[in-house]
Amino acid sequence: MQSALVVGGTGLIGRAVARRLLSAGWRVTVTGRDPRRLPADLAAAGVELSLIDRDDPAGLGVAVGDGRDLVVDCACYTAAQARLLLPLIRNVGSTVMISSKAVYVDAEGNHVNSPSPPRFAGAVTERQPTMKPGDMPYDSPQGYGANKVAAEQVLLDSGLPVTVLRPSKVHGEGAAPPREWYFVKRALDRRPALLLAGHGQGTDHPSAAVNIAALVEVVAQRPGRRILNAADPDAPDGLTISRLIAAVTGHAWNEVLLDENAPPQLGKHPWHRIPPIVLDTSAAQALGYRPVGDYATTVTDEIDWMIDEVAQEPTWKPPGIEPETATSWFDYAAEDSWLRATERPPT
Ligand SMILES: NC(=O)c1ccc[n+]([C@@H]2O[C@H](COP(=O)([O-])OP(=O)(O)OC[C@H]3O[C@@H](n4cnc5c(N)ncnc54)[C@H](OP(=O)(O)O)[C@@H]3O)[C@@H](O)[C@H]2O)c1
Repeated sequence: MQSALVVGGTGLIGRAVARRLLSAGWRVTVTGRDPRRLPADLAAAGVELSLIDRDDPAGLGVAVGDGRDLVVDCACYTAAQARLLLPLIRNVGSTVMISSKAVYVDAEGNHVNSPSPPRFAGAVTERQPTMKPGDMPYDSPQGYGANKVAAEQVLLDSGLPVTVLRPSKVHGEGAAPPREWYFVKRALDRRPALLLAGHGQGTDHPSAAVNIAALVEVVAQRPGRRILNAADPDAPDGLTISRLIAAVTGHAWNEVLLDENAPPQLGKHPWHRIPPIVLDTSAAQALGYRPVGDYATTVTDEIDWMIDEVAQEPTWKPPGIEPETATSWFDYAAEDSWLRATERPPT
C-alpha cells in the first residue's frame, strides 16, 4: 500500500487530495493544527491526523517518517518553510509543493496582488516570468508571490523529485473563503437585481480542488522536478458563473451589466479580471492530467456544501471571509441606491 503525507491536509486542497488518494487505495496521513477541520468522511475512511505546527521541525520529521511515497505540502508559504521540509524528503518518492499563479508577472512587472492589474498577452504558461524571490511578510500583497517563488526555488534547486503546482482561484468543499458565496448569498437573499462590473466579462481561471487532486495523483505516479499550472479545463467569466449559480440555487435576478462609467466598487465580483487571467494547462495534460470535470461540474461540491450549511443554520457564514471583505462584497445599500439613481429600480 502506498503511503502519503498531506501537510495542511485538513484544508481545501489537502482534503481533496486526501480523498482522491484514499479512494485510490493509499494510506494517508494529514496534518493540521485544528482537529475540528478534519472532515468526518476522512476520519471515517481511516485517515490519520497528525496535529503539528508547520514550523515545528521535529513534528514534521515524525510525520514524514522514512517511508512515504508522496508528500504534498499545502502549507508552504516561505523559503524558511521549504528549508524545513528539504532534509525530510530525501527518501520520499515524489514531493508536491502547492504554490500559486500569484507568482507570475507581466511585461511591466505587475502581478495579481499589485496595485495595477497584470496584462498577460494570452494564456499563461509555466515559462512566464515570475516575481523575484523575497522574504518580506508572506501574508502581504507584495510578499505572497515573492515568498512562494523563494519557497519554490529552495525545493527545485535541491534536485529532488519536487513538483511545484501553481493553481489559480481554488474552489471546493471547505474553501476558506468560498468565493462563489458572492453569488450564492445574493441568490439566498433573493436579490432582485445582480450588478456585474465590466459587463460580467471578467475572468480569473478557476481551479477545482478535485482537479488539483487528480493532478497530484498523476505526479505521484510520475515523480519529477517540474512546475505545472493547475486549473480547470475551462475559464468561465463572471456572467457565466453568476448564471450557473442562479440556476443551481433556483433563483432569477435581473442582470445589470455595468460599464466603466459605473462606480468602480459596484458589481466587483471575485473573478473581475480584465484583461482575463487564464492558465495554460497543456504541460499538466501532457503528463497525464485528466480533470475530474469542468467548472460547472466541479463547483457543485462547494455550492452544495454552502447550501447544506445554511439549511442547517440560517445564520451560517462561510470561513475565511474577513469582515471588510463581507462589507465590500455585500453592500446592498450602495447597489440599491445606484439602481434608484439610474432609474433602474429592482423589480
Ligand atoms: N485557496 C486558493 O484559492 C489558493 C489559490 C492558489 C494557491 N493556493 C495555495 O494552496 C495552498 C493550500 O491552500 P488552501 O486553500 O487549501 O488552504 P486552507 O484551506 O487554508 O488550508 C490550509 C491548511 O494548512 C494548515 N495550516 C495552515 N497554517 C499552518 C501552520 N502554521 N501549521 C500547521 N498547519 C497549518 C491548515 O490547518 P489548520 O487551520 O488546522 O492549521 C489547513 O490544513 C496554500 O499554500 C495556498 O497558498 C490556494
